[in-house]
Amino acid sequence: MISNKIQDAINDQINAEFWSGYLYLSMAMNFEAKGYAGIANWFRIQFKEEQAHAEIFINYLVQREGRVVLKPIAEVPSEWDTPLAAFIDTLEHEKKVTAMINNLFSLAESEHDYATRDRLAWFVSEQVEEEDNARQLIDKFKLIGDNGFGLYMLDRELSQRAYNAPSILGE
Ligand code: FEO
Repeated sequence: MISNKIQDAINDQINAEFWSGYLYLSMAMNFEAKGYAGIANWFRIQFKEEQAHAEIFINYLVQREGRVVLKPIAEVPSEWDTPLAAFIDTLEHEKKVTAMINNLFSLAESEHDYATRDRLAWFVSEQVEEEDNARQLIDKFKLIGDNGFGLYMLDRELSQRAYNAPSILGE
């Protein structure tokens, strides 16, 4: 059985993960409309990853006899002029998510909920990857600048990204 305090905090995180997914789906739609099919593909996969993050927390609460409460998802922005602007927003957002995960980790420790702390350890590592992915793409888009051929090639590269469900989802 999980404490109400941890349960509420995880329910807030579930909402934040769905909000993240909604943000990335909005970015995907922005770039579909602007003709960047590869960037749109990258963000569609990011959307699926965020859904998976929410599901990992949902499954965890169910396992711990907690109660999942799905709250409304707040509105997300819908317009990014350039891929660089979207990836800068992505990195900033992921830094906020990292801070949320770290806060949850501290809460689990202070409440002596070591099972929750262990589950959060997966998210701590995942956030390192999330920030690094965004940072690498920011570097690439900065390097390319307004070069049309460079943008075309990078868009093509990002069209190759495929979705792999995290193995932890099946646990
Ligand atoms: Fe669920 Fe992008 O962190």
